[in-house]
Amino acid sequence: MLKGKNIVLGVCGSIAAYKSALLVRLLVKAQANVQVVMTPDAVHFITPLTLSVLSKNPVLVDSFESKSGVWTNHVELGLWADALIIAPISANSLAKISNGLCDNLLTAVYLSARCPVYFAPAMDLDMWAHPSTQTNVERLLSFGNNLIAPGSGELASGLEGEGRMAEPEEILRYLNTTFQEEHAPLKGKKVLITAGPTYEAIDPVRFIGNHSSGKMGYALAEVFQQLGAEVTLVSGPSSLSTPNHVNRVNITSSAEMFQACSDHFEEASIFIMSAAVADYRPREVAADKIKKDDDSLTLELEKTTDILKTLGAKKKEDQILVGFALETSNELANAEVKLKKKNLDLIVLNSLKDKGAGFAGDQNKITTIDSTGTKQAFDLKPKIEVAKDIAQKVLSLLSNKQ
Ligand code: CTP
Repeated sequence: MLKGKNIVLGVCGSIAAYKSALLVRLLVKAQANVQVVMTPDAVHFITPLTLSVLSKNPVLVDSFESKSGVWTNHVELGLWADALIIAPISANSLAKISNGLCDNLLTAVYLSARCPVYFAPAMDLDMWAHPSTQTNVERLLSFGNNLIAPGSGELASGLEGEGRMAEPEEILRYLNTTFQEEHAPLKGKKVLITAGPTYEAIDPVRFIGNHSSGKMGYALAEVFQQLGAEVTLVSGPSSLSTPNHVNRVNITSSAEMFQACSDHFEEASIFIMSAAVADYRPREVAADKIKKDDDSLTLELEKTTDILKTLGAKKKEDQILVGFALETSNELANAEVKLKKKNLDLIVLNSLKDKGAGFAGDQNKITTIDSTGTKQAFDLKPKIEVAKDIAQKVLSLLSNKQ
């Protein structure tokens, strides 16, 4: 759930700062982008070099880098972050940020951050229990910030009691759960996605196929899973690996794809047909390998079932159907005809006239058209980013239906 998220990790002057190293490692392992910001006092407890190596980013301490004269923009950092975690936060920094003081980079980033803020205090038991600290914590909670409460145990002073910073593993678990809840608008929803080509058998060794790589559909499956949906990916032959936590159903022919889609359609809130389904298949499949006895060979082809059109006709009021259209001419007009004919909520148009768009590459350039006729053209971008744009469109269509 933290994959690809931008995390600013604030580290304050406390003996618990040594635990920040492990926290950075866990965040990086979870594939988050980590930017560490330390208070000037924190550098006495753990070196910026350690946290820089672990986070794979330079560590920021000062607003003004005196040697190079570079100014670090706390506003940009605050806007970049998907979450600000201050672990450990000392009694001093807690008092500062709860009262709006910003005398260092970290406290300035706190004031500029629009993202959720999590703070994990670390201090001696009497400092923690003091009414002024508790009042500061109450103030931060009243601002909507999140407390990752300290635990009890042996403290650096040798005293026993409450004030130990939560363990890094515990902080990570907490973040994972919260992120999952906050960033899972499709939790409990089933999404059916098709991807890749279909192969239509001519004989036991030959088929009619196409160049679809499946990349667009697989990217969609990954994005919808990350939005909390339960994703079933009906895939034609593809060498791509299945995205985490996605239920993949392998098929070969359009008839098998139709069957698999029919099996899952009823329960799906969203159906996205990104597969390149063959429009025709050999009327007869030869039982044995066809021999080259003649100078020419004529294959009679018959139409396959139009999966999207057939299931579109059965669409329920609360279902969202998304189709793709790959066009070479008259693109918008053709796509609009398909949108209506197949009873879709959204059609995603690729034009082969656009350089870089379409089947096999890693990038795509799309225009979306919804059932009200609203069109939006997007730039050429990696397929995973295209999938995010499509997901945003689907989310807004869904919220209009609810
Ligand atoms: N599609 C489908 N079943 C088929 C053929 C296409 O479900 N047998 C779906 C595709 O997955 C896509 C949409 O219909 O989401 C439009 O596909 P496209 O190939 O652009 O159009 P066709 O309807 O096949 O029409 P044509 O090939 O004549 O442009």
